[in-house]
Amino acid sequence: MRPLQVSARITKRFDAAWEALLPIGRDSTTSGYRRYAWTPADVACRAWFQEQARVRGLTVERDAGGNLLAWWDDSTRDRSEAILTGSHLDSVPDGGAFDGPLGVVSGLCAVDVLRERGVVPKRALAVGVFTDEEGARFGLACIGSRLLSGTLSMAAAYGLRDAGGLTMRDAMLAAGVEPDETQTLHDISRFSAFVELHIEQGKGLADGDSVGLATAIWPHGRWRYVFRGEANHAGTTRLTDRRDPVLPFAVTALAARRIAAEAGGLATFGRLLVEPNATNGVSSAVHAWLDARAPDATVLQALVDSIASAATAATDAHAVSLDVTLESSTPEVRFDSHLRARIARALDGEGRAIPALSTGAGHDAGILSSSLPSAMLFVRNRTGVSHSPLESADHDDCLDGVSALATVLEDLLCR
Ligand code: HGY
Ligand code: MN
Ligand code: MN
Repeated sequence: MRPLQVSARITKRFDAAWEALLPIGRDSTTSGYRRYAWTPADVACRAWFQEQARVRGLTVERDAGGNLLAWWDDSTRDRSEAILTGSHLDSVPDGGAFDGPLGVVSGLCAVDVLRERGVVPKRALAVGVFTDEEGARFGLACIGSRLLSGTLSMAAAYGLRDAGGLTMRDAMLAAGVEPDETQTLHDISRFSAFVELHIEQGKGLADGDSVGLATAIWPHGRWRYVFRGEANHAGTTRLTDRRDPVLPFAVTALAARRIAAEAGGLATFGRLLVEPNATNGVSSAVHAWLDARAPDATVLQALVDSIASAATAATDAHAVSLDVTLESSTPEVRFDSHLRARIARALDGEGRAIPALSTGAGHDAGILSSSLPSAMLFVRNRTGVSHSPLESADHDDCLDGVSALATVLEDLLCR
């Protein structure tokens, strides 16, 4: 798609919003982001959003789950058939600057573009910030959008615990957010469509266009593996007497890679907790989190089952026990074909046909697609690197994304 221009004024507003957010929650050593749900960094990101909404005259509503909606409408308007855009502000550990925030900044700046174009919407627009999309603190991805879609109860969300045992409810209290005993959530049924803009997290657009349109999200999930052996002395315990949980874990990690490659899927153990984590000790336990994804549910199930079988065989060989628990699961998402076609038509009027691509990354739009027609615009990521401080997108591509999102929202708000 040829570059869609935005004015110097819009560029300035995008840069100002981006620069104001950039330092929040960035680790000075790694330059990665640590914006975990309900930590001071998350609270500061929320304050940033409130301010960006205020300067645009948008009215912000927060629900019991902490989901924020910044409304562009005159408050007298009937908000049925409203249009939703937005994304998340939380990050993975040492994540990049774009994953989530690009969709929020672009949603705010799309309002600027529509105003500059003199657009008078026929229906209301909300720019959303969804709580804890990454699940980095409480282990469940997309908590905010799962609450909105009704697939997670407020009571269950409040009861989720972080690694220190703190519940989400207490974490919200510590963040200065009184848990809402009425547990009222935003009414997602008032919206007729949701369009999330997000940096592309692979190389799907690297050699092509600045903006793409999502077709589907692979099914994926997270499983907690706990290998339990027996703590012992590294310097005195004979090898034959050991029940070392690190060894079957190592076998399992290698098996997961082999099995995923053979299945055409993805499997990663990226988070480990070794107990007691002693340099001169045989470990007592290894907690390892598996992230597995595949092009369809059948392949995913077969992949996950094979990894579990490999783990069981390995633990038997080392007299180690194994527990496997499913912690988070997201079925395949196929984005609404009518909405996709409408978006492609709207953008076609401004350039070449927009490329369509699937992704292995989960998103709030994936969760909300079960509740309302949802779509995603991807902004090119030339290196394909994501969930890393090195994540990046070209400035011009980000501005193309803002322009494309504004065109799509104009079509949805006015036609
Ligand atoms: O894990 C994911 O795919 C997303 O970044 N939450
Ligand atoms: Mn992410
Ligand atoms: Mn994301």
